Amino acid sequence: MPTKATKRSPRVKPGHREEETLRVLISHQRIRERVRHMAQEIRRDFPNEPIHLVGVLKGSVLFLADLARELGGEVSFDFISVSSYGKGMDSTGEVKMNKDLDVTIEGRSVLVVEDILDTGLTLKYLLLLFEERKPKHLRVAVLLDKVERRIADVKADYTGFVIPNEFVVGYGLDYDERYRNLPDVCIVRLGPRGKTKIEA
Ligand code: IMP
Repeated sequence: MPTKATKRSPRVKPGHREEETLRVLISHQRIRERVRHMAQEIRRDFPNEPIHLVGVLKGSVLFLADLARELGGEVSFDFISVSSYGKGMDSTGEVKMNKDLDVTIEGRSVLVVEDILDTGLTLKYLLLLFEERKPKHLRVAVLLDKVERRIADVKADYTGFVIPNEFVVGYGLDYDERYRNLPDVCIVRLGPRGKTKIEA
């Protein structure tokens, strides 16, 4: 079954790992500062309100964890998992749910937390799904936005960084399930076979 995590990764045959060069695009320190400011903006908009964070698995996990701690006040969270279908780095726009939310969002102030906005097709699907469930407020926070790649007519209410059209990993984002634990967001490029190189 295709997963969201592997669909957009450049394909490499098992046992034939190509050299992967990682270049830091956004340092952990910049991420933490930006996340703190995003949390302040969100709290300004919802000063005394319980905020229900809905994380899109798995890429949003680290972002959600940091954002939740910076938000303060009453915060709860839940997670949803979806797969989008397509070949290589392209998407057909077909999105399938793997895991639904555990609790209702009806009447709640919901903040959807996404790692990256690419074509926007996943977010479009999620917003249509969630709007039907009648939340009190429905807002979106994304850490990264590849504006150039947008197909669907969606935008985030809170955006961490607008980035160029490059494949990125780290801080939750993966390449074939690897690199999610990197503290920085890095651009990954494939080259001749060999080991992973990390450039500052
Ligand atoms: P969209 O539906 O095209 O906006 O896809 C969004 C999803 O694609 C994200 O939640 C990521 O899982 C994945 N994705 C898009 N670009 C990247 C990338 O550069 N690195 C890792 N995952 C990505």
